[in-house]
Amino acid sequence: MNILCIDDDAEYLLGLKLDLKKSYQITTAMTLAEGIDALKNDSCVDVVLLDIGLPDGSGIEGLSKIKTDFPNVDVVMVTAVKDPKFVVHAVRNGSSDYLVKPYAHEELVAILEKLAAVRTIRDRHDALVADLNPTDTKSRILGSSPAFRDLLSQAARLKGHNANVLILGESGTGKELLARYIHSIDDNASKRPFIAVNCAAIPEGLIESELFGHERGSFTGAIERKIGKFELANGGDIFLDEISTLKPDLQAKILRVLQEREIIRVGGNATIHTDFRVLAATNIDLAHQIESGQFRMDLYHRVRVVQLVIPPLRERKEDIPTLIAYFLEKYGKGIDSKKITGSALSKLQNYSWPGNIRELENVIHSLTILTPGSIIEEKHLPNWTMNGVGDTTKRAGTPAVPEMSAGASYKDFVNRAERTYIEHILTVCKGDKTRAAQEMNIGRTTLYAKLKELGLDA
Ligand SMILES: Nc1ncnc2c1ncn2[C@@H]1O[C@H](COP(=O)(O)OP(=O)(O)OP(=O)(O)O)[C@@H](O)[C@H]1O
Ligand SMILES: [Mg+2]
Repeated sequence: MNILCIDDDAEYLLGLKLDLKKSYQITTAMTLAEGIDALKNDSCVDVVLLDIGLPDGSGIEGLSKIKTDFPNVDVVMVTAVKDPKFVVHAVRNGSSDYLVKPYAHEELVAILEKLAAVRTIRDRHDALVADLNPTDTKSRILGSSPAFRDLLSQAARLKGHNANVLILGESGTGKELLARYIHSIDDNASKRPFIAVNCAAIPEGLIESELFGHERGSFTGAIERKIGKFELANGGDIFLDEISTLKPDLQAKILRVLQEREIIRVGGNATIHTDFRVLAATNIDLAHQIESGQFRMDLYHRVRVVQLVIPPLRERKEDIPTLIAYFLEKYGKGIDSKKITGSALSKLQNYSWPGNIRELENVIHSLTILTPGSIIEEKHLPNWTMNGVGDTTKRAGTPAVPEMSAGASYKDFVNRAERTYIEHILTVCKGDKTRAAQEMNIGRTTLYAKLKELGLDA
């Protein structure tokens, strides 16, 4: 836990630092203004120990300012005189607890431990609420083309079964949305957790503790116990996105969880039972990865009890008008939603959408902003959508194809070309990954996976 102590007594601050530095991260400030600055600059502060009489204002003013601007920070008021009126006032204004100077070290530690426990429960609760109910997916998943109807009816058959599902599809085809849909059609879906994990976006050093959780003190920085995603998913679904990016040692550990239905938190000894369905997704050919030894065949078979393949948008062009109408409504917010002319619509229908629905959504979003008036015509469309083919590289320009030494393998060449291309786009986008992903017409998660694969994520 990270503690900030605001007090104008230098000696007291020094003593406190010595007392707490073994178990906590502690920073200090001698005025209210300095303390607020420290909070602004360090988003990791969990608890503020706030003195009541400060040179530039009272602690009570400080309390309301901190609770307004940094609502997740717990404040413990520290006062020299025990005045019941003050205590009531402080608690009413959001202080978590109070201490009367001089206090015993144990008193302070007891308060900090209590706050740490409450914070753990709160984090766990927040994670559950955020993921629990992917509401309304049924009404948001659109498509009436035969190919898409077929897919949805296969998905509907999963209702009431606990079989693991592997979802395949190009970037932006709606893999995550489909996973949420599969979760939502089960009875009691709102009471069962849906825990999403993007395997590509979690830094390698953290992924184990994200998935399995950790005990307090199990490694530097493990200041509190953390409940892992596998434990949170108990009784529900875990969505393992970009599963192809998992390193071999983690694949082995995950396989064990799927077999044993048990986990052990990092740094812990207790075996914890957890039961969940896996919904996994990838846009990379796993069969190819198995062949090259990058993905375990046994894990693949465990995860792929049922396999669903989302067809790319260019193979279900019939769905494009419905999706466009939906996105126009969504981004027009119903008030000034724009209309599109038949010829503009047909241009968009004939474009090949290499970035699939995500690309379509981005284009419509930008058209609702940039088109003057209420009618979107052909002349308003971005020019790369006009020629019917999806040449996504035109916008940011393409770098020259890298030169290779004689004898380089096909794979070396492709890797090099990929790296050159990605580096080029990132430079053009000044390192902004969201924009770079848009330029490349791939999902952000796909870009993260690529950066990790190519070792560019440092
Ligand atoms: N059938 C659909 N109906 C309506 N919206 C959709 C549909 N499919 C996808 N979308 C929308 O398109 C966007 C991309 O979908 P999603 O994130 O599920 O794709 P993905 O396949 O997981 O992409 P990536 O591989 O890049 O992670 C989301 O905003 C989603 O809501
Ligand atoms: Mg995704």
